Amino acid sequence: MALPNKLRIRLKKKYRGYALVTGASSGIGQELAKELATSGFDLILCARSEDKLNSLSAQWRGQQKIKIEVIATDLAKTEGVLSLLEQIEDKEIGMFIAAAGFGTSGNFIDNSIEEEVNMLRLNCEAVVMLTHQLAIRFKKQVFGGIVLFSSLVAFQGTPYAANYAATKAFIQTFAEGIAVELKSHHVDVLVVAPGPVKSGFGNRANMKMDGATPVEKIAVPILSALGRSSTVVPGAQGKFLTYSLRLLPRFGKIKVMKIVMGAMTKHQRTYENINS
Ligand SMILES: NC(=O)c1ccc[n+]([C@@H]2O[C@H](COP(=O)([O-])OP(=O)(O)OC[C@H]3O[C@@H](n4cnc5c(N)ncnc54)[C@H](OP(=O)(O)O)[C@@H]3O)[C@@H](O)[C@H]2O)c1
Repeated sequence: MALPNKLRIRLKKKYRGYALVTGASSGIGQELAKELATSGFDLILCARSEDKLNSLSAQWRGQQKIKIEVIATDLAKTEGVLSLLEQIEDKEIGMFIAAAGFGTSGNFIDNSIEEEVNMLRLNCEAVVMLTHQLAIRFKKQVFGGIVLFSSLVAFQGTPYAANYAATKAFIQTFAEGIAVELKSHHVDVLVVAPGPVKSGFGNRANMKMDGATPVEKIAVPILSALGRSSTVVPGAQGKFLTYSLRLLPRFGKIKVMKIVMGAMTKHQRTYENINS
């Protein structure tokens, strides 16, 4: 869904320079990068899949007169984050979208601890390191927009996605805090808390995402909220679940999330039962 003209003009005026998008090779990051490309933003696209990024870059540069840099790096590794920071040192960046991330599901103790720690590094450590450097630069230039990703699962403990939900609770809390600290420096921080969205996420997390919001529907609400609010819940399904859960006490929310996530990971436990 294309951005309304008024929104494009506001974004271009407010967040001049390159937009850095991590997780630009798939899903939400790719959709946001596409909309920014169409709006005339120069882009720095980051993910591990260099071929995918190069092909998106060629496609978008064929449609718009914009500059696109591709940086392929593994952000779950500290050296991958440092390499990205080094490569963007001399670039004028006005917007940072931290969409690289993944989830795991199932019983925590059945999962690979290497994968769980990798997720913590990508979803939290990389976001903190990149946000720190970019926020310092944005403060100096007296403008900038930062978009971070939490989730519907961030607002309570979530059985069968316990560590993933904890990484997202971290981002939600982190973003709410820095949004206030950076406001007086004219740096906008937005945290996006989606419900299920159709992307590569479900496959990697091994979650069934029936009725998930199409990814094309979430760029407009996200980019419209940047500079206007500090948290946004895009998509009808996400909104419905978030607002219904809000009325419950925390233990009630956990019970509901057990049912919701239980349904999304039922196929795994059926397999587990067959094999036990
Ligand atoms: N989809 C949902 O239902 C949903 C709901 C709530 C929150 N979120 C959050 O939204 C964000 C975007 O997710 P999505 O739905 O767009 O998922 P997605 O389609 O799987 O995209 C994830 C992106 O992250 C990149 N990535 C993964 N591991 C990486 C690594 N080690 N280093 C660098 N880049 C890496 C992937 O590219 P490569 O594989 O090429 O590296 C890809 O571009 C995530 O933080 C996710 O937790 C998603």
